[in-house]
Amino acid sequence: MRDNALRGDCTLAADGELRLLQITDMHLMAERGGTLLNMDTDDSLEAVVDTAVKRAHEPHALLITGDIAGDGSAAAYSRLEQALKPLGAPSFWLPGNHDGCSQAHVPTERFSRSLTTPHWHVVMLNSQVEDQVGGHLAAQELEALSAAVDTATTTQRHLLVALHHPLHALGCAWLDPQRVDNASVFMTEVGRCQKSVVVISGHVHQANDLTVEGSRCLTSPSTCIQFEPGQANFKVHDIAPGYRWLTLHPNGDLETAVVRVEGRSFVVDLDSGGYL
Ligand SMILES: [Fe+2]
Repeated sequence: MRDNALRGDCTLAADGELRLLQITDMHLMAERGGTLLNMDTDDSLEAVVDTAVKRAHEPHALLITGDIAGDGSAAAYSRLEQALKPLGAPSFWLPGNHDGCSQAHVPTERFSRSLTTPHWHVVMLNSQVEDQVGGHLAAQELEALSAAVDTATTTQRHLLVALHHPLHALGCAWLDPQRVDNASVFMTEVGRCQKSVVVISGHVHQANDLTVEGSRCLTSPSTCIQFEPGQANFKVHDIAPGYRWLTLHPNGDLETAVVRVEGRSFVVDLDSGGYL
């Protein structure tokens, strides 16, 4: 998202556990029914939302971790608003590398910088670099992270950080170079936290769960095409789209799992060599 800025703080009243859903990498195209590697990304998003509705998670909030638009179209953002409505929870969005839209064309009230909850402080970061696939945290994002660590520390809260690009290598040689290129600065900052730290990222279209220097670093399936883990070269995975649920407890404990759509198949070009 050009001329982007994540702004403002929202308060979520979640007295006990905080229940979140991570929904990511929708790649919605200009027209409804648009496709990515032959997969209809509106249809797959609706199937993911339907699966989550049936699971009755009762989320306090939805965290949307980027690549909302697949081709930079403004129409993607209004269609996402509609698609998420059945979940009946407020949603908080951040941009990915494919979100090339001007801020004038997106619902800026969705792009909050932080969420304050009774036991967890949530901060959203923008790791997008214009015209690049890979991620980087610019100075203002590192300042926001530092401020969030200060807030979490002084208020005795646990910290959850959401951003599009992962911080660490996942074991996919073609994808790993796209991770945040200054992740060491990030890790030094969160190293100041005295309580739990959880980091959620999108971009990699696969589930991953790493603990690095005491921080739990998670990724989620995309709501459309999936990338096969452990591959040296671009490889689409023949596995259904999905989402991640997270239950964050007042004592800092985390329960989380990925849920995928069941009982139907999706059309996707499994032999593709990649996409831009
Ligand atoms: Fe991405």
